[in-house]
Amino acid sequence: MKFFLDTANFAEIEESLAWGVVSGVTTNPTLVSREEGAFEPLVRKICAVMQGGPVSVEVLATTAEGMVEEAVRLAALAPNVVVKIPMGVEGLKVVSQLNSREEKVPCNVTLVFSVNQALLAARAGAAYISPFIGRLDDIGWDGAALVEEMISVFSCQGIATPIIAASIRHPQHVQRVAAAGAHIATVPYTVLKQMANHPLTSQGIERFLADWSLSRGEARL
Ligand code: G3P
Repeated sequence: MKFFLDTANFAEIEESLAWGVVSGVTTNPTLVSREEGAFEPLVRKICAVMQGGPVSVEVLATTAEGMVEEAVRLAALAPNVVVKIPMGVEGLKVVSQLNSREEKVPCNVTLVFSVNQALLAARAGAAYISPFIGRLDDIGWDGAALVEEMISVFSCQGIATPIIAASIRHPQHVQRVAAAGAHIATVPYTVLKQMANHPLTSQGIERFLADWSLSRGEARL
């Protein structure tokens, strides 16, 4: 399973790239609204630092015509822009149109909450499909179970469209979607950091250092 970073914060992207585990970025209007500065330069800067890794950027228009126009403009910002299109009838029209252009615009169909929505998005030609698991948990459902079901239906139907598990809130979500076979998990920076740490790891390092300095009392190097 690949990891994307779910953020529009440049410092978080730069920092986590150094860990060698992040291969893409997903943004949304909420995430971008938290950042300073103009939108297009920020998108260009993120795309450049990702060196070809896909960067999802969402449209704001709500009509098919408006979304297509906006998607084409966003895609022109950098070759690794993937346009995020909200699921729905208008969204499906957009994905299908963008997919049949000579210069295809790759689409990440977002705000997906059911297997049927995912089946339609895949059929329309989505490059990625993003089920939002945390938001399903918020209304008392089991978001990770949706990813499990989606993976099993896609595999029995021979559908290869990559599933990005999104709206991830904690490391347990990551483990569940990995076990389900999700292709990608897009995680907030805080969750990525939580995944790398464990109290017993920190405690273990402290104890090794204490034992070393007790018995040897000197630095090794
Ligand atoms: O990329 C969008 C998605 O991950 C949103 O997450 O936490 O706002 O539901 P959240």
